[in-house]
Formats: sequence, structure tokens, C-alpha cells
Amino acid sequence: MNYLLRGIGVLATVGTISMLAFSLPSGEARGDGGGDALPRLTHKNWQQECASCHIAYAPSFLPKASWRRVMGGLDNHFGENASLDPATQADILRFLEANAADSGRSRMGDKVMQRMGANEAPLRITETRWFVRKHDEVQRATWSRKSVGSAANCAACHRQAEQGMFNEHDIRIPK
Ligand code: HEC
Ligand code: HEC
Repeated sequence: MNYLLRGIGVLATVGTISMLAFSLPSGEARGDGGGDALPRLTHKNWQQECASCHIAYAPSFLPKASWRRVMGGLDNHFGENASLDPATQADILRFLEANAADSGRSRMGDKVMQRMGANEAPLRITETRWFVRKHDEVQRATWSRKSVGSAANCAACHRQAEQGMFNEHDIRIPK
């Protein structure tokens, strides 16, 4: 019995290692280091226009269809008017679509898409099944703490969210 269990353990370990060996190079090739860091992205208009009220949410967290909805409704953006001139709006949308969760450009995006229904296009990252599952250990009351405000305030807990780093070692839930 013991031997059998140990045998299964060894098999599982070998399986995990070979999966890692298989997936790391592709992650590196896509510039996201294969971990929970996001690809380093720079885009002038996006960084200028989408980071004044909150962090510039990485495109890998939502599919193209979601970004089209977000960018199509900036005049009533979660109760704010975040309108842009048409050229800037189109430029930012192109950038978001090119790097969206379903663009195949990041492992984070792949993970988000694994839990996305075929016709789903949520307006919020915090409404995706991927997000809800990743945060299932965070209690409801924690989200509404004054020091957090809402789940959309990633940087309250992920100290390096602005740099696209969501490693679990960098998480501090504020009191
Ligand atoms: C005038 C302020 C303002 C600007 C500018 C702005 N936003 Fe927002 N955004 C908000 C507010 C307010 C929320 C809701 C935050 C909350 O629920 O706590 C929000 C939420 C979001 C969310 C959903 C976050 C979640 O809950 O997962 C996305 C995605 C988003 N914004 C994208 C953008 C993009 C893309 C741009 C640039 C084109 C942008 N925002 C510019 C105010 C702004
Ligand atoms: C109240 C604090 C809090 C807020 C706000 C928050 N998170 Fe998290 N986040 C956590 C915790 C706790 C975990 C679970 C870490 C673990 O699995 O050990 C987590 C996990 C993650 C992970 C996976 C990290 C890993 O190593 O597996 C990602 C990516 C992530 N969050 C992104 C976000 C994004 C994007 C936002 C904002 C839209 C956000 N988080 C808002 C606390 C928070």
C-alpha cells in the first residue's frame, strides 16, 4: 500500500517536472518569464490615459471582446466619464486587443481563458471566473475594508501590481 502511494507520488512529481520543463521555454519566449509576472508592456496612450484613476490593468486579464466593450463605453465607465478622442480610443483598443487574454501572448492570458465561457465578455477582471477562483481565500469583508476599497484595487495587496508582478510573495493584505 505504502509502496503503491509512493509510486503514485513519484509519477505525479515526474509529471509535474516534465510539464514545467515543457512550459517554461514557451513562457520565456513570450516575455513573461513563465511565472506569475506579466509581459512588460509599454504603450504611451494606454499608460497616459488608463492609469490616472487606477493602475493600467494588463491586457492579459481580459479577452478582446471585453476590451471592445470597455473601450466602447468610456463615456459611462463605472460611473465615471473616461471619454477619449476617437483616434486615441482606437489606438488603445488596438493595443489591448493585440495583447488580450485570448491573443496567445501570455501564460496569464491562457489561464484566464481556461475558465472563460465561449461567449463571455465580462467588463471586469474581478468578475472573471479565473479571478474569483484565485481569490477564493480572500474574505468578503476584506474587499470592502477602507484600506482596500474594492477588489479592483489590485495594488492594495499586490505591492508590485503596477509593474505587472503578482507573485504570491509580494502579497500583503492591508489591515
Ligand atoms: C476617470 C477615471 C477613470 C479613467 C480615466 C479610467 N478608468 Fe477604468 N475604472 C474607473 C473606476 C472608478 C472603476 C471602478 C473601480 C472599482 O470598482 O473600484 C474602473 C474600473 C475599470 C475596469 C474594471 C476593473 C475590475 O473591477 O476588474 C477596467 C477593466 C478598466 N477600468 C479599464 C480602463 C481602461 C482601459 C481605461 C483607459 C481607456 C480606464 N479604465 C480609464 C475609473 C477610470
Ligand atoms: C485584498 C487583497 C487583494 C486584492 C485587492 C487583489 N488580490 Fe490578487 N491575490 C490576493 C491573494 C490573497 C491571492 C492568493 C495568493 C495565493 O494563491 O497564495 C491573490 C492571487 C492573485 C494572482 C495569482 C498569483 C499567484 O501567484 O498565483 C493574481 C495574478 C492576482 N491575484 C491578480 C490580481 C489582480 C489583477 C487584482 C486587481 C484587479 C487583484 N489580484 C486584487 C489578494 C488580492
